[in-house]
Amino acid sequence: MDVFEAMATRRSVRGFLPTPVPRETIAAILTAAARAPSGSNIQPWRVRVTMGAEKQRLSAALRAAHEAGRPAMREYHYYPRQWRDPYLARRRRLGWSLYGLLGIARGDVAASRAQHARNYDFFGAPVGLFFLMDRDLEQGSWLDCGMFIQNVMLATRGFGLHSCPQAAFCEYPDIVRRELGLPEDSILFCGMSLGHADPDEPANRLETERAPLADFVTFGPAT
Ligand SMILES: Cc1cc2nc3c(=O)[nH]c(=O)nc-3n(C[C@H](O)[C@H](O)[C@H](O)COP(=O)(O)O)c2cc1C
Repeated sequence: MDVFEAMATRRSVRGFLPTPVPRETIAAILTAAARAPSGSNIQPWRVRVTMGAEKQRLSAALRAAHEAGRPAMREYHYYPRQWRDPYLARRRRLGWSLYGLLGIARGDVAASRAQHARNYDFFGAPVGLFFLMDRDLEQGSWLDCGMFIQNVMLATRGFGLHSCPQAAFCEYPDIVRRELGLPEDSILFCGMSLGHADPDEPANRLETERAPLADFVTFGPAT
């Protein structure tokens, strides 16, 4: 697949078919993704793949915590502590668009919570990925890991598959760590669902907007 096509067709899929993904495909995706650059080539990323019964046990444990209303226990701040525009407006637009497709009315807390809980079921995907790095690494390594994750999602498109990066898993890192036996000295910075998109899932009709070039690019003088 052409790199531009891979970028253009990558989107966050929130409904997958149960069709399995061969282990060799996952290995090929991760091998390709590891061509990502990193400062001094330190390659700080680590990946834990989960499938089958182990993934089901993890989902059940996460769902139980969510249903019990256990507060999130994030190890790092992904989102701004103080939301403000334009970020707040964009976030709201995404939420309203997604919930509109799903028929969830504004203020329907129960339905919103149920939709959020689908994160913990990997939106039905057969493969879950968890991205980790050693805790003692610095901010530069977060950049490197971001590039690695993007490579994973683009390589996934190369196999005709789809993904959804998920910070939702970082709400209960202790549960993920316990169920998957992850080392304490690593930080869980992202989860991901991976598989075949379900064409009948309404959430997959979501088309997200992007700000026009002029909103985020400034060209200096040409000469
Ligand atoms: C690091 C990261 C974490 C995310 N976490 C979640 C999540 O927990 N659940 C979810 O449904 N989407 C999650 N998303 C998807 C974003 O909502 C999505 O990327 C954004 O709305 C743009 O849409 P697109 O990916 O379809 O282009 C996450 C995206 C990123 C990059």
